[in-house]
Amino acid sequence: MPNIVVVGTQWGDEGKGKVVDLLAPHVNVVARFAGGNNAGHTVVVGREKYVLHTIPSGILHPGCRCVIGCGVVVDPGSLIEEMESLVQRGVTLDGNLFISKNAHLIMPYHPALDRASEAKLGKRRIGTTGKGVGPAYVDKAARAGIRMADLLNERLFREKLELNVAQKNRLLREIYDAQTFSVEEILNQYLRYAGWLAPYITDTALLLSRWIDNGYSVLFEGAQATMLDIDHGTYPYITSSSTTAGGAATGTGVPPTRLHGVLGVSKAYTTRVGAGPFPSEMAGPLAEAIRARGHEYGATTGRPRRCGWFDAIVGRYAARINGLDTVALTKLDVLDQCETVKVCVGYRYRGDILTEFPEDENVVTEAEPFYEEVEGWRAPTGGAKNEADLPAKARRYLERLEELIGVPFCLISTGAQREETILCENSPLLRWFPSVRSSLL
Ligand code: GDP
Ligand code: IMO
Ligand code: MG
Repeated sequence: MPNIVVVGTQWGDEGKGKVVDLLAPHVNVVARFAGGNNAGHTVVVGREKYVLHTIPSGILHPGCRCVIGCGVVVDPGSLIEEMESLVQRGVTLDGNLFISKNAHLIMPYHPALDRASEAKLGKRRIGTTGKGVGPAYVDKAARAGIRMADLLNERLFREKLELNVAQKNRLLREIYDAQTFSVEEILNQYLRYAGWLAPYITDTALLLSRWIDNGYSVLFEGAQATMLDIDHGTYPYITSSSTTAGGAATGTGVPPTRLHGVLGVSKAYTTRVGAGPFPSEMAGPLAEAIRARGHEYGATTGRPRRCGWFDAIVGRYAARINGLDTVALTKLDVLDQCETVKVCVGYRYRGDILTEFPEDENVVTEAEPFYEEVEGWRAPTGGAKNEADLPAKARRYLERLEELIGVPFCLISTGAQREETILCENSPLLRWFPSVRSSLL
């Protein structure tokens, strides 16, 4: 049974939640491998809307086991809130949710450091979600982090906490002039969390290995996206984890030799939340119109998302870095009313035309987009059941995007609902999950 990685190909919020929820009935397990509660993955089921932050987007399907892998950083308070809210809405977690012993904890001083560091950066701030994700990964890399397993050992937890609080308090007081933390308060709070989470904490790498040995199929759910990856994104305006396909292996403990394919999720245009270069960004009323039609406000922070045209240079880069086999294209409907639709096909940089994404902050910042324009289709795409139902001009737009990024599409999404999805002819998904045909048609 195939093990497939799902990743965002742009700057996040491409609709990974919708795609993972759609595919979840066709796999046995969904495993998150990166990020923390900076993510906001939306699943819409009829009139119900679920925004998942740390829990994988397969959780609404009772037969699907969900794993929070070691590559994820977990804010236990936020996770418990998410768990309680799902249980209240009738979702079963017991027997369906598994948290890696090795996942690092977001501690109360992490969001404080996140906000203090952003304030100090001033004009050069990243525009983080303020959830403490960056500082938690700093501690992980510095070998000072506290992990899920430590929650289950009070002596060890206290020892690590004392070391960390002493160091962080100095940093907060002396560098940032910010409030400090008390070991006892954190200890009491986190021991309560430990009581809650203990039944879910386990060796998820071993579980995944056994499940795969037994023929289970695993979907690896990426958070954030290619252009926010710590190595391959628009550094330093990125998040602090490996959000590209390679992260699926390190972030779960499943070896690369057991992965069978990579599916990218792309919007029919582009959005970005937070600061940093965005060559195909739109300005003025056009950006506002797309933001309004696409409801482009952050699922985690509510911040308005910056909007731009589809960037084929970014698309091709994402195809190369992730080894994309196929792409699910979302939010085509948002462009339905555009008179013309533009696609960025190159960057002008100091007299040259660049056709490969430049991995250099200075070049990306100066790059001027070079567009190809197509006529808008000005007709609703919403009710389309297959590609042939789409307006001819919309089909041409899709064909052009496929050609530019060099990857075939598998799904076209024309609305937030599960049913508003078209399975592409010869969709590569059918090779992995033949049962998708009957569920989507
Ligand atoms: P994620 O972080 O990649 O899971 O994406 P988000 O959930 O943050 O943002 C995607 C938003 O677009 C959510 O509100 C979805 O419900 C919505 N959405 C997903 N696909 C479509 C689509 O094809 N059309 C429209 N109009 N909305 C969509
Ligand atoms: P999903 O999974 C969009 C952005 C933040 C900021 C940068 C660093 O829903 O696609 P961080 O808090 O991670 O240190 O912030 O990354 N960012 C996201 N943007 N979607 C996300 O997640 C994001 N998670 C982080 O806006 O620019
Ligand atoms: Mg999101």
